[in-house]
Amino acid sequence: MVTIDGPGGAGKGTVAAGLARRLGWHWLDSGSLYRALGWLAAREKLFEAPDETLADLASRINVVPAGPDTHVTADGQDIREWLREEKAGEWASQIAVRPQVRKQLLPLQQACRIPPGLITDGRDMGTVVFPDAVLKVYLTASPKSRAERRLKQLNALGVHGNLTDLTREIAARDERDRTRALSPLSPAPDAWVIDSTHLSAEQVIEQIWEAGRCFF
Ligand code: DC
Repeated sequence: MVTIDGPGGAGKGTVAAGLARRLGWHWLDSGSLYRALGWLAAREKLFEAPDETLADLASRINVVPAGPDTHVTADGQDIREWLREEKAGEWASQIAVRPQVRKQLLPLQQACRIPPGLITDGRDMGTVVFPDAVLKVYLTASPKSRAERRLKQLNALGVHGNLTDLTREIAARDERDRTRALSPLSPAPDAWVIDSTHLSAEQVIEQIWEAGRCFF
């Protein structure tokens, strides 16, 4: 079990999927759960709904790790294509502050810990969801390089983006994720902090691979 937490755009997803591929393990992209719920809440105009209503909504989301991929569904439908845009990340961050939502999504994530092993990325994987993980990484990078990476990812998906807007949106999302009362973004005390500003995803994977050799 390896956890990779950190702010948006630090390369967590690319590193986690790459490691899962190398190890033949599964990948849980926990952000996709919050994105799915944010998307559903936006579609059904339930953003202001009470916690209990949102928890009911969360029960319609499911997630299945599938090797170096995460299948997330809403009402049994594959909705991944709706979750990539920056707007989905923003909705996810807003919905993620709600305690009942986090409570409802917790067992779903923990159930993904299946053989032969799980690599997971998010904000609270090492601190709350899998506190007993053998290797915990906190992956960060400068705000500028995170915004540039995010822009590249969006462009590769054919989604439009603008560096100034992205930088602002990432900063606002970081602030919300760091300051929320429950499960805020923060390195676990036993996490290994890696700054990827000047590292490629491959270099980060190599570092984790070397450090984790005795566990894998
Ligand atoms: O990793 P991401 O950008 O897909 O995550 C989108 C948002 O979901 C993020 O800004 C906060 C929330 N999130 C969370 O609160 N806890 C997680 N473990 C993963 C994501």
